[in-house]
Amino acid sequence: MLKKTLGSLLTAKESDELISAFDQVGNIIIVRIPDLLLPKKKLIGETLLEQVKSAKSVFYQSSSVEGEFRTRNLEVLAGDDKTETEYKEFGCRFIVDVRKTFFSPRLSSERIRIAELVKDGEVIVNMFGGIGMFSIIAAKKKKCTIYNIDINPDAAKFCQKNIAINKLAGNIISIHGDAVDVIRNQLENKSDRTLMLLPEKSDEFLNSAILAAKNNGVIHYYSHIHADKKSDAAKLSEQHYLEVTPVKSTILGSKIVRPVGPRFYQTVIDIKIEK
Ligand SMILES: C[S@@+](CC[C@H](N)C(=O)[O-])C[C@H]1O[C@@H](n2cnc3c(N)ncnc32)[C@H](O)[C@@H]1O
Repeated sequence: MLKKTLGSLLTAKESDELISAFDQVGNIIIVRIPDLLLPKKKLIGETLLEQVKSAKSVFYQSSSVEGEFRTRNLEVLAGDDKTETEYKEFGCRFIVDVRKTFFSPRLSSERIRIAELVKDGEVIVNMFGGIGMFSIIAAKKKKCTIYNIDINPDAAKFCQKNIAINKLAGNIISIHGDAVDVIRNQLENKSDRTLMLLPEKSDEFLNSAILAAKNNGVIHYYSHIHADKKSDAAKLSEQHYLEVTPVKSTILGSKIVRPVGPRFYQTVIDIKIEK
């Protein structure tokens, strides 16, 4: 559909490139535009807004996800300059501000994978929990207690709203703060399952994840890894983890979550640790 929409503006190759860089979050479209097409960005925005009936705004993502809060610069191309929207996934509702907080619709298979691993009664520490996507989807499926920590005050505030609209008060606790301090002060040896969704900095935070975990707890360790062959990426991250971890670890599984650049992958390893 999009290809047809953009067909009058762009060549087939140009519209292919654009479509792979396109996300819709609720009524917002976010598009990354290759440099060569930047002179046409307004036209692209206006065309998308006109053709995608459910969209109210089109934004050009002019930076990668960056900084401590993992947010991005968004420039409005067409429609309202309003970055708060509602998004639905696996029967859960999320209010998100795509400018003020991290958000990726591309992690949805990973979110449901984690939710399906959770068992009733678990205590989970989601160290970099953002607006609560992983936590809410898991807590809707199983009766568990989840500490959703984030250093970005807006992320913690949206998480609080999302807990309320999904009727999960008491099951998820939104905590604003640095995961290192929060774990040291209140979550030592509490966690059956610990999520580390800050792949750029997993090694820096590994000791805190271990501190949060109970003996025999599971850690989901996300990282970024270069691999010439895609089929080697998960094994290479396992090797890396085993080199850096200070604790006895059993690898339960590993996989590529998504490609993040040429020969560069986000991976996850599921690990059981002994303390
Ligand atoms: C890649 S995002 C993941 C967010 C969420 N898990 C999701 O998938 O939507 C990483 C999050 O970690 C948060 N963050 C960065 N450093 C942190 C720290 N030291 N303690 C707690 N949160 C932190 C950022 O604000 C950001 O929301």
